[in-house]
Amino acid sequence: MSTFTFATVPQIIAGPGSISRLSELKTGLGSRILVISDDGVVRAGLVQPALASLSEGGAETSIFTGVVADPPEAVIHDAVARAIEFGATGILGIGGGSSLDVAKLVALLARSGEALCDIYGVGKVTGERLPLVLAPTTAGTGSEVTPISIVTTDAHQKKGVVSPTLLPDAAILDASLTVGLPPSVTAATGIDAMVHAIEAFTSASANNNPVSRTLAKEALRLLGANIEAAVKNGTDMVARQAMLLGAMLAGQAFANSPVAAVHALAYPIGGLYHVPHGLSNSLVLPHVLHFNATVCGDAYAELAPCLFPQLEPADRSGRLAGFLEGLALLPVRLNLPVRLRDVGIPKDGLALLAENAMEQTRLLVNNPRTVLLSDAARIYEDAW
Ligand SMILES: NC(=O)c1ccc[n+]([C@@H]2O[C@H](COP(=O)([O-])OP(=O)(O)OC[C@H]3O[C@@H](n4cnc5c(N)ncnc54)[C@H](O)[C@@H]3O)[C@@H](O)[C@H]2O)c1
Ligand SMILES: [Fe+2]
Repeated sequence: MSTFTFATVPQIIAGPGSISRLSELKTGLGSRILVISDDGVVRAGLVQPALASLSEGGAETSIFTGVVADPPEAVIHDAVARAIEFGATGILGIGGGSSLDVAKLVALLARSGEALCDIYGVGKVTGERLPLVLAPTTAGTGSEVTPISIVTTDAHQKKGVVSPTLLPDAAILDASLTVGLPPSVTAATGIDAMVHAIEAFTSASANNNPVSRTLAKEALRLLGANIEAAVKNGTDMVARQAMLLGAMLAGQAFANSPVAAVHALAYPIGGLYHVPHGLSNSLVLPHVLHFNATVCGDAYAELAPCLFPQLEPADRSGRLAGFLEGLALLPVRLNLPVRLRDVGIPKDGLALLAENAMEQTRLLVNNPRTVLLSDAARIYEDAW
């Protein structure tokens, strides 16, 4: 019998239009609320309903729009300075994983006074944070329910802060915030969420647990059944809300049973070539699955009908083959680039990618099959 822990957010508020009811919800954000977002999200008009609701409820608001994708440390320092100057009583993050990750660190650092450079790694946070609510506009990273913030620390490195203190007080899942997401971003971020579920299910972590595995399967059902509809018709609110729910469940799963080699090999692609996080994952996914299949074929066969219900009657080998093939074809069906060369990565860049991937020890330890430098190099070659 396994011993495990499972933690998630205390409150989830779901449904189209939830963000416009912010002032009625017991979020504990207080009277001076700093909203953390990025220019693209603000230009898409996604922050306005929240601001209107908060003002109606009598709160003073200020907005920091300086987040950029794969946020560097400087963005966090600027946002923390703004929060302190404004006298923020609470932080509301609205955006993709980048905005939510920044919002988490701002809530912590503006209150605890810790230095960002001291808290990279697992369990290094000691102080408390300001009240924090997160509303994702991608479906997605699941950052709204993970105790993780990812920061770009220099030209090519990404580091994580992992602490239960970063779990927000509430997550708001409102499909109206995702309707304007372009098809390619819907596809890539949706595949990122699938990867979270698959890697949580097969994680070699000692805390791989039955709650995460159950959530991962349901996440894959929702994501698999809705990704094409959401990509083809961005205004399909049923598909959009299901994608948000699926991404959140996958986030809960991997928050407690952490991700592994797909993410370890994806991060250097984002760090060195600025390929978006979801697409980086999508590019290496089929090749890492193929590598892992020798040790977790049973698990992949079990997951296969969640993503591809037509595989339900197949036997183990049929399910496994269908799972690997179906996930290799998914990016093609969704019109995403499928090879590393398609996103401008030169063949002579693969060796450095492999070296950098080996530095992601926090993630590689969770992979069900040991990844050596030569394995990483071969996977990148296969993906090129
Ligand atoms: N904390 C975690 O647990 C966790 C997990 C996985 C990834 N991440 C991190 O999350 C980041 C990636 O997040 P992401 O993939 O959600 O994208 P993102 O936040 O980087 O946003 C990508 C782009 O999409 C735009 N955008 C977002 N929502 C939109 C909408 N509804 N309409 C129009 N445009 C919109 C943004 O303006 C931005 O230009 C990376 O830094 C990654 O490392 C964090
Ligand atoms: Fe991810």
